[in-house]
Amino acid sequence: MTKKILIDTDPGVDDTMAILFALRSPELEVIGLAAIFGNAYVDVTAKNALHLVELENNHHIPVAKGAAVPLVEPPRSMGMHVHGDDGMGGINLPDPDGELLGIPAAQFIVETILANPGELTLVPIGPLTNIALAVRLEPRIVDLVKEVVIMGGTVYADGNASPVAEANIYNDPHAAAIVFNAGWPLTMVGLDVTLKVVMTKNYLDKLCSVGNPATEMIRQVLPFYQQFHMEEYGLNGDLHTHDPSAIAYLLDPALFQAEQIPAFVETVGSCSGQTVLDRQRQLGDFKEINVCLGVDDRSVLDLFWERLTG
Ligand code: RIB
Ligand code: CA
Repeated sequence: MTKKILIDTDPGVDDTMAILFALRSPELEVIGLAAIFGNAYVDVTAKNALHLVELENNHHIPVAKGAAVPLVEPPRSMGMHVHGDDGMGGINLPDPDGELLGIPAAQFIVETILANPGELTLVPIGPLTNIALAVRLEPRIVDLVKEVVIMGGTVYADGNASPVAEANIYNDPHAAAIVFNAGWPLTMVGLDVTLKVVMTKNYLDKLCSVGNPATEMIRQVLPFYQQFHMEEYGLNGDLHTHDPSAIAYLLDPALFQAEQIPAFVETVGSCSGQTVLDRQRQLGDFKEINVCLGVDDRSVLDLFWERLTG
């Protein structure tokens, strides 16, 4: 049976790779995309999301535009220095053919869960603002969603937005705190695993030479992102695999080693955006989440390769 998913996303170079990975996986039925600020402004990420469903001839998949700013604090940063001004490595795509939905992403998320009780998996791969707004709008979605699988957070790995915080959590810690404490089945695919899945320059060069519409899009958006990884991490054309790892988890959770652990998100001070495990519940009565701590990196890369080139 296919898994129905709704991806909440800020495309974004690695979001692009993740969305194409999902759209090309027959086990997954992408019911919709919701756009969020993050790697670029939300007007831009929404347009990019629309463009990606059209690229794979999925014009029927609805795309809703979501929040432009975090719940409480002003935006901390947008990721244009990582993903380019257009979020797509500066390739300046033409306008998509289709239109965005006429309702905000939070409402779209609520309506989609209510229409698919117990069947829909939410896959947020950007800041969690839309998801928190949806919980506020209709708290019943917590019991009606099948599961929530996020790309975000870090426990043992260094942060990538602050010494302790991963970017998606850092960019709206208050929203993340709501999502972590909602009490729904939540899996965190964070930097502890995504940094271990490395697409080498050789792997990417071969992928980009395949020449189908998906790999052609990846070929175009990659150079800006690779340049950032070179300057920031000293990687010579290699990339960490963030958002596509969440899709790999949906396809085969057995590729990941995960533990159920009580966790919370820090929202104040210099550690704001940190995802903290509190095994003994010393700091509060936190909800258990499923935290990915290990990964079969080779198999994730093989799966991505198979779907993108097949
Ligand atoms: O930390 C990695 C995450 O931040 C990814 O989702 C990437 O797209 C950026 O949003
Ligand atoms: Ca993202």
